[in-house]
Amino acid sequence: FNTIDDLDLDGKVVLVRVDLNVPVENGQVSDATRIEKIVPTIKDIQAKGGIPVLMAHFDRPKGKRVDSMSLRIVLPALEHALGQTVKFSDEAIGGPAKRAAADLSAGDILLLENTRFYPGEEANDPTFAASLAALGQVYVNDAFSAAHRAHASTEGVARLLPAAAGRLMEAELNALNAALGDPVRPVAALVGGAKVSTKLELLSNLIEKVDHLIIGGGMANTFLVAKGAEVGKSLAERDMADTAREIMAKAEKTGCAIHLPVDVVVAREFKAGAAHEVLPDEECPADAMILDAGPQTVDAIRGVFEMCRTLIWNGPLGAFEIPPFDAATNAAAKAAAELTREGRLVSVAGGGDTVAALNKAGVAGDFTFISTAGGAFLEWMEGKTLPGVAALQKR
Ligand code: 3PG
Repeated sequence: FNTIDDLDLDGKVVLVRVDLNVPVENGQVSDATRIEKIVPTIKDIQAKGGIPVLMAHFDRPKGKRVDSMSLRIVLPALEHALGQTVKFSDEAIGGPAKRAAADLSAGDILLLENTRFYPGEEANDPTFAASLAALGQVYVNDAFSAAHRAHASTEGVARLLPAAAGRLMEAELNALNAALGDPVRPVAALVGGAKVSTKLELLSNLIEKVDHLIIGGGMANTFLVAKGAEVGKSLAERDMADTAREIMAKAEKTGCAIHLPVDVVVAREFKAGAAHEVLPDEECPADAMILDAGPQTVDAIRGVFEMCRTLIWNGPLGAFEIPPFDAATNAAAKAAAELTREGRLVSVAGGGDTVAALNKAGVAGDFTFISTAGGAFLEWMEGKTLPGVAALQKR
């Protein structure tokens, strides 16, 4: 695909798809990571003489105007990150948007209102895409985290204008390719999270691509059940036990080593600081639940990390929101961070919860790459083609 280096932007209005779907608390952006990450793209476009018109979605207004989902809310944080004022258009298409775009001069930036206020966005309606395309001469997509959506602003417009990937899109694709596409082996994947059922495709795809698959979190319990262990009141999908057995059988065939907890931290209550004990993986009492992986499991995970050259991480190992059940996630995160700092491991992580867990462990900055994507990161790991990325391929 093209990057902004391949396009002539001088004097042109550049439509830039960014992801401004950021968390907001009490009317203020509470985590500006996604906003900060698009700054290099916007600055580079300006340096090449282009005038950026930003388009983005915010939350899920379902094709209607919803005041609490206006991108005006994000405007101050965007201006702060860019260090300049940003003009705003209350409409994303039509006369007012056209006039706002036509009024721009060199150095200006315009932000369009939430594209999801229009039903044509999610329907990827060609007429809506054409109305967006009419606002500029060139299209840049810097929203990897929205690239799993085949929407007008992520997919439709790319087919109507000369198109290129922004810097963040480039970085995301390069990092993910280095982790799964053409990685330095051996490769380990750590997959945690609550449910096997939501990560089935992910597990099947990874088994074909990685040398070691570490399974943690609630879904590890389902695998323990499949192996005949008692898991008491733990979160587990007992009806998925056969599926878990199939995954283990497939892994054996493809030569992927699956690592499950060998010891577990159990408690009787799901609350911070609850009384807990460490037990072998098969011995969770009937009235207790597994809330974290135990110290021997963490040692084993560290051993796998030390053996490997590439790590791709999605999902926490335990109930990381409630200490002390964040201990395994924190310890494993620190181990990965240390090996990365020493240059022994390429570490890539993504997914909403995962990034929160690594931030909490204070090591996110040490990872080789942290994706800004949630759903898109997962779909990419599942081996799916992302429509927003496919539409950027050179034609
Ligand atoms: C995200 O927050 O993961 C992206 O912005 C996509 O948002 P969506 O899940 O509402 O499409």
